[in-house]
Amino acid sequence: MKKIIIANWKMQLSLKESLELAKQADKKIDGKKNRVVLCPDFSALPFVGSAIKSGALELGAQNSAMDARGAYTGEVSPVNLKALGVKFVILGHSERREYLHENSGIINLKIKAALKQGLVPVVCVGEKLTVKKSGETEAYLSRELGHTLKGVKIKKASDLIIAYEPIWAISTNKNARPMSAADADAIHGFIAATAARILKNPVSVLYGGSVNIVNAGEFLSQKNIGGLLVGGASLKIKDFSHICSL
Ligand code: PGA
Repeated sequence: MKKIIIANWKMQLSLKESLELAKQADKKIDGKKNRVVLCPDFSALPFVGSAIKSGALELGAQNSAMDARGAYTGEVSPVNLKALGVKFVILGHSERREYLHENSGIINLKIKAALKQGLVPVVCVGEKLTVKKSGETEAYLSRELGHTLKGVKIKKASDLIIAYEPIWAISTNKNARPMSAADADAIHGFIAATAARILKNPVSVLYGGSVNIVNAGEFLSQKNIGGLLVGGASLKIKDFSHICSL
């Protein structure tokens, strides 16, 4: 089965830059080795959607609302994302948990709302450095997965993806460094087993956090790692197209 590589552009690009990057990605990435998904910000979705013509790239969003319709000022409905050609939606990213105070209850509702529209939630989990240092990583992840996925029902394994992103490894955090591929593989095995118990389906678990052209191959070769969620390195077309070809 192909692994999946998701570009998280965060809020790093202007509309013009998003369109330019999407055009280059469309030209350079053939999607033969891995499935590749671009996640621009909301405003760039229609432009990026129309720039990816080759059929090798798919469209994702970085968030979506906890309901299909209603009085939720500033939110974006999963119905409208679907109408724009979006297939995947990143939910529960640590930056949203930290800056927007999203908790597992909200993320849980968002997952259910996205699934209802046939979007594939990419559910992010990951521990802070303090949790890692106290040796509580597995206990934390197990609790977090339990809360976030509570009552979530999927029909098949490909309906939902988990992204494991240790917060201390995300490139924009202080002193960030990637996890070793072997350590990541072990934790991915744990997450996959925990999620499979809850969801009654063996979903893919992606790794994210300071992925770059040097370490991407090693992560992708691990058996429990189903792909990558790439931030910083997805903004450089040379690096990202190389990662997608591994
Ligand atoms: P990074 O970001 O690859 O720049 O560490 C990953 C993410 O936050 O999704």
